[in-house]
Amino acid sequence: MWIIIAVVSTIVNAVQFKSVFTPPDDTPLPEAPEYSIEEPLQKITVGASDVESSLKLLNPNKSIDPDKLDSQILKKTHAEIALPLTNMFKKSLDAE
Ligand SMILES: *[C@@H]1O[C@H](CO)[C@@H](O)[C@H](O)[C@H]1NC(C)=O
Repeated sequence: MWIIIAVVSTIVNAVQFKSVFTPPDDTPLPEAPEYSIEEPLQKITVGASDVESSLKLLNPNKSIDPDKLDSQILKKTHAEIALPLTNMFKKSLDAE
């Protein structure tokens, strides 16, 4: 008896599976448009004065970001950390 129930259950499952899933669409995908790069991306330059002025603009009232850097400390130490930060940004941008 349980074999008959198992067989019927398998058939019902197969019918339900077929009704829920659609067969794969074999239609070929449309061709992707071709793009040409007329102007490559310009080299990004970062200056210490840019970094320092950005640090000065930080809002000290903002809560600490996931990077755990307090904007108040970054703002207060802008003169001291601008150059080392700039060098880090430059190294990061020059890395391949
Ligand atoms: C930060 O909070 C202080 C004190 O409430 C306030 O005087 C100051 O204007 C705030 N600064 C900014 C940039 O929102």
